[in-house]
Amino acid sequence: MIAIGCDHAGYDLKSDIIGHLSQKGYQIIDIGCNGEPTDYPAIAEMVAREVTGGTCEKGILICGTGIGMSIAANKIKGIRAALCSEEYSAKYTRLHNDANILCMGARTIGSGLAIEIVDIFLNTEFEGGRHQRRVDLITDMEKSII
Ligand code: RB5
Repeated sequence: MIAIGCDHAGYDLKSDIIGHLSQKGYQIIDIGCNGEPTDYPAIAEMVAREVTGGTCEKGILICGTGIGMSIAANKIKGIRAALCSEEYSAKYTRLHNDANILCMGARTIGSGLAIEIVDIFLNTEFEGGRHQRRVDLITDMEKSII
């Protein structure tokens, strides 16, 4: 299951991605919004909690730049949200960071590229090994945040 959410700036791109993923047979939870003016942190938190709660294995968040969504989602323990605007980052944030949320900017990339980024993100497995140690260090940091 994939959780997806956007603010008003990301609505059209979110619709394109939902269409693409539905056609591919993915099960999707659409957290909103539906195009109305929306504060992105609330959506980021809801998608993040679908992932940390185990209902969804990954999440996708879209706002104008993808930056606000990524800042907000990374406040939730267990979330590794990666802002990607090209394919290489989407591949390596899965291989090396085990990113569990993909963030994109609807005002910075087009729908065709975004869909390719989504496919790479969802179909690339974490490499583990030395990268697991580094991800564990990030998890350790979360435990000591005051
Ligand atoms: C909304 O205008 C815009 O600020 C938002 O979509 C996002 O880009 C924030 O990071």
